[in-house]
Amino acid sequence: MLQRPRRNRRTEAIRNLVQETHLSPAHLVYPLFVIEGAGIKEEIKSLPGNYRLSLDNILQEIESCMELGLQSFILFPVVPESYKDKTATYSYHPDNFYLKAAQAIKQQFPECCLISDVAMDPYSSDGHDGLVEDGEIVNDKTLPILAKMAVAQAAAGFDFIGPSDMMDGRVRTIREALDENDFKETGILSYTAKYASAYYGPFRDALDSAPKAGDKKTYQMNPANKTEALLEATLDTEEGADMLMVKPALNYLDIIQSLKQASKLPIVCYHVSGECAMLIAACQNNWLEYEKAMPETLLSMRRAGADIIITYFAKDYAKLYIK
Ligand code: PBG
Repeated sequence: MLQRPRRNRRTEAIRNLVQETHLSPAHLVYPLFVIEGAGIKEEIKSLPGNYRLSLDNILQEIESCMELGLQSFILFPVVPESYKDKTATYSYHPDNFYLKAAQAIKQQFPECCLISDVAMDPYSSDGHDGLVEDGEIVNDKTLPILAKMAVAQAAAGFDFIGPSDMMDGRVRTIREALDENDFKETGILSYTAKYASAYYGPFRDALDSAPKAGDKKTYQMNPANKTEALLEATLDTEEGADMLMVKPALNYLDIIQSLKQASKLPIVCYHVSGECAMLIAACQNNWLEYEKAMPETLLSMRRAGADIIITYFAKDYAKLYIK
């Protein structure tokens, strides 16, 4: 035998030398759910270890994450039902607590990277990402609403705007609106290939944002499709996206790989709530060992080609990394 691959696995030092893929906290984005008020910390039942936090607690949470080397956060609003309407007007209201929270975060931690979510669902009485007319999610009338939301978020200080709505043409509409309002430096992290997945359940529990009628299949992608993800990537790139996202991550590693090969833009994947919840549940049952299964899961996304991973495990990974 001339070739013995095991020689390169013999000691930890050798294994470290030949390791092909690396994951550090710098690659991770931590999702946070902000709720109006003070002193609030409510655990999300279907996503243990994750909370709806009021701004005071969010600021503390960010501080402790930054000490662990996490620098990037994606913020989602828990909007009371009474603020919701057909056209999501609260999303750009001057008193919006989500926008105020972003402002406070960037004031206290100017060095962090803060990413927004653009879609109507947290603010819509219909619970859909776009405007609903006669039971249909209408594309073109949704675009100006998304643009207003994006401009308000840029004004609040978000570093990246994250359109998660999957309407056609929204990246271009948002880019133009940002530029017209002099937010040329605000980036767009586009949810390029967002699938109509069953794995968003815990997130919708956290926000109470599930659709009131129907599903999201007329705008989110069919889980069976891959070529279509490449079409979406081409369009988002032409329309001015700065980063492209695949969502979910674990069930879509092949899509991450395809986009990485096809694009020169950074590829982000969103390891979504249901994907994290499965692993948490197995670990709570002692069926899997969290400290081993969790890093292996995240590494698979980097190996597939993800430059950046959004995951509810970001803080736990950062703690392990320091150890
Ligand atoms: C809102 C949005 C969703 C997620 C991120 N932004 C839910 C959805 O599209 O229904 C899901 C994230 C997760 O499950 O962790 N458009």
